[in-house]
Amino acid sequence: MTSPAPAPGDARRYSRITGTGSHLPPRRLTNADMVALLAARGLETSDEWIVERTGIKARHFADDGVNASDLALHACRAALQAAGRTADDVDLIIVATSTPDMVFPSTACILQNKLGANGCMAFDLQAVCSGFVYALSVADAMVKAGGVQCALVVGAEVFSRILDFDDRTTCVLFGDGAGAVVLEASDEPGILATELHADGKHVGILCVPGTVAGGSVLGDPLLKMDGQAVFKLAVGVLDSAARAVLAKAGRSEADVDWLVPHQANIRIMQGTAKKLKLPLEKLVVTVDEHGNTSAASVPLALDVAVRSGRIQRGHTVMLEGVGGGFTWGAVLLDF
Ligand code: ACO
Repeated sequence: MTSPAPAPGDARRYSRITGTGSHLPPRRLTNADMVALLAARGLETSDEWIVERTGIKARHFADDGVNASDLALHACRAALQAAGRTADDVDLIIVATSTPDMVFPSTACILQNKLGANGCMAFDLQAVCSGFVYALSVADAMVKAGGVQCALVVGAEVFSRILDFDDRTTCVLFGDGAGAVVLEASDEPGILATELHADGKHVGILCVPGTVAGGSVLGDPLLKMDGQAVFKLAVGVLDSAARAVLAKAGRSEADVDWLVPHQANIRIMQGTAKKLKLPLEKLVVTVDEHGNTSAASVPLALDVAVRSGRIQRGHTVMLEGVGGGFTWGAVLLDF
């Protein structure tokens, strides 16, 4: 249990994760399923290619009619239960998503109503695959500023809805899911430091360029990615963000018990761990079973590692996000 938080404005007021939760839709597609799905469209892929290039073996797709808020609802209920909290305790909901239920209102408002947390602040945050790291940093600042006691920070995605199944270079990479944490005010850290960046000159290397106007979709509503350009940028920025967040917190690489990076590609994740001289046993990997779930990937991986008993109270954890925008960032925390 967290002890009573210092008053707003007190420099000893911190934010701390008190519960985690996640949810995957039940429909699981293996690489063999993707081979069959693409073959029906006259395209070739193979389990070997997907595993060798990405580490992905399976992903989950939501059924028709199941939206990001539905996946988020399950993840939030699990996180609240783990924290010993109820919807009545929540005074902020942030949903990081690039696949919202509607153009508006926000998925956070839709989720809020499903949770029965009506009345508290609720908004979406869009930073693609860095979304959860961004949302956690924003919630941390709001808790420290004093206006928030108990926040639900969520990453929820149905990327299967924006995949081009005639583009084998992207459709095998992504999956659907949701992860959530309860973040509460505390007199002990908690979140030690955050580091966020974006560079909009790279908008075109990873985007869904379409928009809604005049009653129809204008432009292409499906995901486009220059994989090699993203790969090269990701390796550099994940390393610089990790070093910057450690420096801010006055910690070193040796202090990190667990690295929970965005789950896009096992080669990028292992490369990041090696650059930080972290043994691969300290790297949390779920990309093999989840694929890339964009903003949901970090909280999903965090929850899996917490529930399997690997991440324990007192461990120092580094979360890292990177994705469309181009956006990237890191959060260092004592769990
Ligand atoms: N099956 C079989 N062959 C394929 C497939 C497939 N599914 N897709 C591409 N190929 C072929 C290509 O056509 C190419 O063939 P060619 O050499 O005959 O032209 C060959 O495989 C190599 O293609 P590359 O694109 O060079 O493959 P690469 O090794 O770069 O791997 C990948 C591609 C996996 C996309 C990689 O570049 C990557 O992971 N990039 C980073 C993605 C990422 O980190 N995203 C994070 C952010 S996501 C977000 O924000 C939403």
